Amino acid sequence: MDDKRHFVIDFDSTFTQVEALDVLGEITLENNPNKEEKLQDLKELTDLAMGGKLAFRESLERRLEILDAHKNSIPELIERLKTKVSVSFVRNEAFFSEYQDRIYIISNGFREFIVPIVKEYGVKEENVYANSFQFDEEGNIRGFDKENVLSSSNGKVELLKKLDLKGDVYVIGDGYNDYEIKAAGLANKFYAFTENIERGNILDKADHITPSLDEFLYLHKMNKAISYPKNRIKVLLLENVHADAVAIMKNEGYNVSTISGALDEEELSEKIKDVSVLGIRSKTQLTAKVLKNANRLIAVGAFCIGTNQIDLEECLKKGVAVFNAPYSNTRSVVELAIGEIILLMRNLPDRIAEMHNGQWNKSATGSFEVRGKKLGIVGYGNIGAQLSVVAEAIGFDVYYYDLVEKLALGNATKCNSLKELFEKVDIVTLHVDGRKENKNMIGDKQFKWLKEGSIFLNLARGQVVDVEALKKHLESGRIRGAGIDVFPKEPKTNQEEFESPLRGLPNLILTPHIGGSTQEAQENIGNFVPGKIINYINTGSTTNSVNFPNLQLPILENAHRLIHIHHNKPGIIAHINRILAAHDINIVGQYLKTNETIGYVITDINKEYDNEVIKELKGIEGTIRFRVLY
Ligand SMILES: NC(=O)c1ccc[n+]([C@@H]2O[C@H](COP(=O)([O-])OP(=O)(O)OC[C@H]3O[C@@H](n4cnc5c(N)ncnc54)[C@H](O)[C@@H]3O)[C@@H](O)[C@H]2O)c1
Repeated sequence: MDDKRHFVIDFDSTFTQVEALDVLGEITLENNPNKEEKLQDLKELTDLAMGGKLAFRESLERRLEILDAHKNSIPELIERLKTKVSVSFVRNEAFFSEYQDRIYIISNGFREFIVPIVKEYGVKEENVYANSFQFDEEGNIRGFDKENVLSSSNGKVELLKKLDLKGDVYVIGDGYNDYEIKAAGLANKFYAFTENIERGNILDKADHITPSLDEFLYLHKMNKAISYPKNRIKVLLLENVHADAVAIMKNEGYNVSTISGALDEEELSEKIKDVSVLGIRSKTQLTAKVLKNANRLIAVGAFCIGTNQIDLEECLKKGVAVFNAPYSNTRSVVELAIGEIILLMRNLPDRIAEMHNGQWNKSATGSFEVRGKKLGIVGYGNIGAQLSVVAEAIGFDVYYYDLVEKLALGNATKCNSLKELFEKVDIVTLHVDGRKENKNMIGDKQFKWLKEGSIFLNLARGQVVDVEALKKHLESGRIRGAGIDVFPKEPKTNQEEFESPLRGLPNLILTPHIGGSTQEAQENIGNFVPGKIINYINTGSTTNSVNFPNLQLPILENAHRLIHIHHNKPGIIAHINRILAAHDINIVGQYLKTNETIGYVITDINKEYDNEVIKELKGIEGTIRFRVLY
C-alpha cells in the first residue's frame, strides 16, 4: 500500500531547540551595550507572534530592525544552530532520509540558515518553504521578500493551500501558526511539540502533545531507530530537579514532564498512575498510599542525599528500585569545613558580630594562621579523606582516626584511637556516619581529652555530639571556637524556629544543615541519579540502589536478558531454570542477589524466546515484576 502521509515540520524551537533570530541577536549584538535589553525585546516579539498575539509581519520587521544584521553573520549563525538541533531529531536522523519525499520544513524563518541545517539530515532543499532575506549593497539585512506568503500572518495556511498535498497531512510544531494549518482544515492532525518550549495556548488545541520526535514516530509506528519504545517510559520530575537531569532523561528518549513544586499525597497518588520513573527531592513524601497506585513505576530517583521521605520497604515490595546521590556534595562540605576553621582560628564570628554592633576591636591576640596547625579528622570516609587532601594543600598537618583501616592520603598521620587524636591536634572535625552506635560518641569525657583552646567542628550528624557537654566546654574556653551545622533536633521547615542550648555562645558558627547545599552539588546530583536509573532500565544494574540488592551487570551482547524480581523465598531460581530447560533455552549467565524482602535474578539467554516462556516466567508464584531487555 502506498504511503499517503505528509509530514509538515516547523523549524524554530521544533527542528532546533532555539529561535534562530535570537541566536542571530547573540551574534550581532555581542558588543552592543544594550544587548540584554534588546535580546529581551526580540524574545518578546517572537513570543507575541508565536502566540498569535501580534501580526507576524510586524513582529518580523521589528525583530530585523533590532538585529541590525549583516550577511557575514549568517555562517556563524548556521554553525551555532547545527549544535542546537533538537535532541530527539538528532537521535532519529534515519527518519529524515527515509521519508525525505514526504517531509516538508515549513517555517516563517529564513531559507538562508534553514536549508544548510536540514539538508544535513536528508531533507530535500525543494521541500523547504521559508522566507528569504533582502540585503542592501553593503550586505546588511534590510528586510525580507514580502511577496512570500510566509512573511505574513496566516502564511503557513496560505502555503499549504498552494501546495495542495494529496493524502494525510500531519503537522509538528510549537507555535500557534502550526496549529492554524489544522484549524483551516488542511491537516489531519496537529502535534504540539514540547521538547524545547511549551506554549500554553496551543496545548489544549493539539491532537497530541508530543514531548519528543520519538513519541510522534511511535504514534505513527515508525520508531525503528530505537530498540524499544523508550518514549513510552514516562518520567515525572518534581521539585525543580536540576535541568541537567531533565536533559539527560530527555536525551535518552524518555517522555519527561516536570513540576516545579512538590505534590501532596492526594495529588501524587493520582499523577503516579502512568509514571514509570519518579524523581523527587526532600519535600515529596512517597508513601505506601501513593505506591498503591504506582503500578507502572520501575524506579525512583531521590535527587538528594537522604531517603527518609520514601517508604523504601514498600517500594521493595512493589519491585521499585530507589536511587539517590550519596556523594555528590562531598566537596561542598569539605570547602565549608576549611572556611569555618579559618574563620574560627581568627575569632571572626565574634569580630563580625561586634562590627555589626558598631564595635571596632582591632587586635591580633588569639588570632592564628592555619598553616602548620594539627587538624584531626574523625571518620576518614568520602568527606574526611577529601578534606585531608584539601587541608594538606593549604598547610595543615593532618591526623585522622577511623573505625576501619583506611589508607593515609598524602602525608596524613593515622591515629589508633579517638583519644590519641583528640590529645594530639589543635582542631577536631567530625565526619563519621550516623550509625546508631555513634549517638553521643562525643561528650564530656571526649571533650576533656582536647587541648585547651581547641577548635571543634561537627558537619556530620547532629546526634553524634552531646550538645550540653559542648556548651559546657565552649563556655569554659577549652573549646575556643566551634562550627556546628547539624543538630540533634532540627526544624523541619524554614518557618519553624531553631531551638538549641548553643544559641548565643561566643565564637560559634551555627549553620542550618547547609554543609552540602551548593549549586554544584545540585548539578552533581542532577547528573548522577539519571545515570543510575538509565543504567538500571537498560542493563538491570542496581549499583548504588538504596533499597535493592546491589548487582553490577556486564553489558549484554548477542543475548536476551530476563529480569525477575520476586518475594524472597526459596526455590524461585530453580523454578526459572526448569521453565527455561523445558523450552530448551540455554542460560549464558545468571546473577542472583537477595535481601530480606526480595530476590533479584538476572538470566541471560542466547536464544529467541516465545511468549509462552514469558507467560510461564511471569506466572511463577511470588513474582513481583518481570522485564525482558533487548
Ligand atoms: N552537613 C551536611 O550538609 C552534610 C552533607 C553530606 C554529608 N554529611 C554527613 O557527613 C558524614 C560523612 O559523610 P561521608 O560521605 O564521608 O560518609 P562515609 O560513610 O563515606 O564516611 C564515614 C566514615 O566514618 C567512619 N566512622 C563511622 N563511625 C565512626 C566512629 N565511631 N569512629 C571513627 N570513624 C567512624 C566510617 O568507617 C567511614 O569511614 C555523614 O554523617 C553524612 O551524613 C553532612
